[in-house]
Amino acid sequence: MAVKVCVFDAYGTLFDVSAAARDCASEPEWKQLDGKWQKLAFDWRMKQLQYTWLRAVTGDYSDFWTVTQNSLDWALASSGLAGDPGLRERLLALYWQLGAYPEVPTMLGELKAGNVKTAILSNGSHGMLRGAVRSAGVEAELDAILSVESVGVFKPHRTVYALVEAQFGTDPQEVLFVSSNGWDAAAGAGFGFRSVWVNRAGEPMDRLPWKPDHELADLSSVPNLARPS
Ligand code: LAC
Repeated sequence: MAVKVCVFDAYGTLFDVSAAARDCASEPEWKQLDGKWQKLAFDWRMKQLQYTWLRAVTGDYSDFWTVTQNSLDWALASSGLAGDPGLRERLLALYWQLGAYPEVPTMLGELKAGNVKTAILSNGSHGMLRGAVRSAGVEAELDAILSVESVGVFKPHRTVYALVEAQFGTDPQEVLFVSSNGWDAAAGAGFGFRSVWVNRAGEPMDRLPWKPDHELADLSSVPNLARPS
């Protein structure tokens, strides 16, 4: 079966989630982040994911923006950086304009040139995703932006992955699903997608019942995987 749609996770896959803390630390007014932004970025992301899983398991959905603020508050407190509303506000503002990884525009252009449809499937709210896509300048290269907001539960609930079929009418085997989150790539494989794990950091594979079909160091060769063999 040929690949008809290439579906991307957003945060960490197309958009660099550590950019908010890193960019903030490079601004002269936030000297308190010197030597601390790396832990802040790590804690922010880990808590953000944990909160999505906990909310999915308990059925207590709230949008990704709330989860992103809750997790930042935990991360700031953990680094002794709570109590500075200006810093909190700046970090949150930067989250709406995370940069895309450098290979993203060319890679999406190659997929479009090969008549493969492209989409985002993300925990992000519609508003957050539109902001990130616009600031990365890749609106024209995407056929759809699918958000868990439509189903009111976070990944890796199967209902989320089913949004792709509802949008494109595709069989899961006609979908190439790309995520830099090992657990998301694994769950996508479990759903039946052809799944790609983008492992930029050279991490070990998650020990889960499902395995991605491919592992890449970045996104540049994704179009090769979508070409008919
Ligand atoms: C997303 C998170 C998992 O974009 O990165 O869905």
